[in-house]
Order: sequence, then structure tokens, then C-alpha cells
Amino acid sequence: MKKKILISAGPTREKFDAVRFWSNRSSGKMGYALAAAARDAGLEVTLVSGPVALEPVSGVNMVCIESAAEMAEAVKGRAPEMDIIIMAAAVADYRPAEVISGKLKKLPGEICVKMVRTEDILASLGAAKPAGQILVGFAAETSDLLANAAGKLARKNLDWIAANDVSRAGCGFAVDTNAVTLLGRGGEKIELPLASKSEIAAKILQVLLS
Ligand code: CTP
Repeated sequence: MKKKILISAGPTREKFDAVRFWSNRSSGKMGYALAAAARDAGLEVTLVSGPVALEPVSGVNMVCIESAAEMAEAVKGRAPEMDIIIMAAAVADYRPAEVISGKLKKLPGEICVKMVRTEDILASLGAAKPAGQILVGFAAETSDLLANAAGKLARKNLDWIAANDVSRAGCGFAVDTNAVTLLGRGGEKIELPLASKSEIAAKILQVLLS
């Protein structure tokens, strides 16, 4: 039987009013490259995607969502049956506390928007991880890359984390290349130097399947 993998990709959008939202610069390219690499490696792939400007990946089960809450529902509902889960999505950590109905009209002076935390989906997956499942996160960092990534690996009960210095040229959001360091729960440290996101994705899959 084919191994089942779920990959999340892209940003989430957290609604503020009828026409505005809170989001981030994630393009979805790394997650989509992982989905294609997993398909090419012979896995049954589910790709849970936030709003991106990419063509859908052929031969995978696409699930399109907008908000962190929708991503949580789509991912957690499918998680128990998965052999591997890679959370490559840039899930918003905060959402506006209230969604204003209609379009907010401007008024004189400042406004203050209260933001509340979204669910940490990866942490929830780690807390409920079935035996044998491989759970993988991405750590998007602009400082203390490996220490922060190692902290997330332990805190979220992951098997691997891809430490991604998103402040480095050619790495991270929106570009076609990336460089990551894979940290494993057994102390493994695997450097994947600057390459196309497709090449990085194929190497990550190789490590997870070896
Ligand atoms: N993640 C998640 N749910 C969230 C936030 C993050 O599942 N609400 C996942 C991401 O998909 C990624 C990992 O957690 O795989 C790390 O995300 P990152 O943004 O680097 O870190 P955070 O956990 O949000 O921590 P911090 O903001 O402190 O860096």
C-alpha cells in the first residue's frame, strides 16, 4: 500500500472585515515543491493549501482553505491516517479578535485592532501523534536559527524540523531557491545547501523515507 503524506503550504488569511485580512508573504512554493516531490516518490499526497498564486499540483488531493481555523480543521481531521505530515504552511499566529461585518469606514484618528492567538496546529498534531507517524515542521527564523528550530522540534514533539533562515538572500519566502538545515529528534543535523526548492524538497523526502 502507498504511504500517505499530508503537506500544508502557503499563508493563511485572517479576516478583519468584508474586504481586509491579516496574512504574510508565504508564496506556497516550498510546500508545493514538497507535494510534487512526494508524488514523484510514489506517495499518496494530500496538499492543504492557503491562498497562493500557483498552479495546483497534478496527481495530488488538493484541499484549499483560507484561515488558520480552516487549516486546523482540514489538517487535524486527516492527520490520524497519515504516515507523514509536513507543516510547511506559514500559519498566522494571530487573528483579529472580531470580524467586522461589511467594510470598515475610516474615521478621524487611530484605531486599535485586538488580535488573539490562533491554534498552533503543529503543536496539536505533536500532542496527538500516533505511533509511527513522522511529523515534520518548518522553522522560519530571522535570528538564532538552530537554537530556535531545536526548541520547536522539542516543544512540538516533532521528528524533524527544517530550519529556514528567511532573512538570508535566496532563502525563504517567495523566492524559487532555499537552503535548510534538517534537525532530527535523534540529534541528526543535515545541511541542505542553497538549491532550487524542487531539489530541496526531493532531498527532504529522501531523508524522511530513508
Ligand atoms: N505552525 C502551526 N500553527 C501555527 C503556527 C505555526 O502549525 N499557528 C507550524 C508551521 O507550519 C511550522 C511550525 O509551526 O511548521 C513553526 O512555525 P513558525 O512560524 O516558524 O514558528 P511558531 O511556532 O509560530 O513560533 P514563533 O512565532 O515564536 O517563531
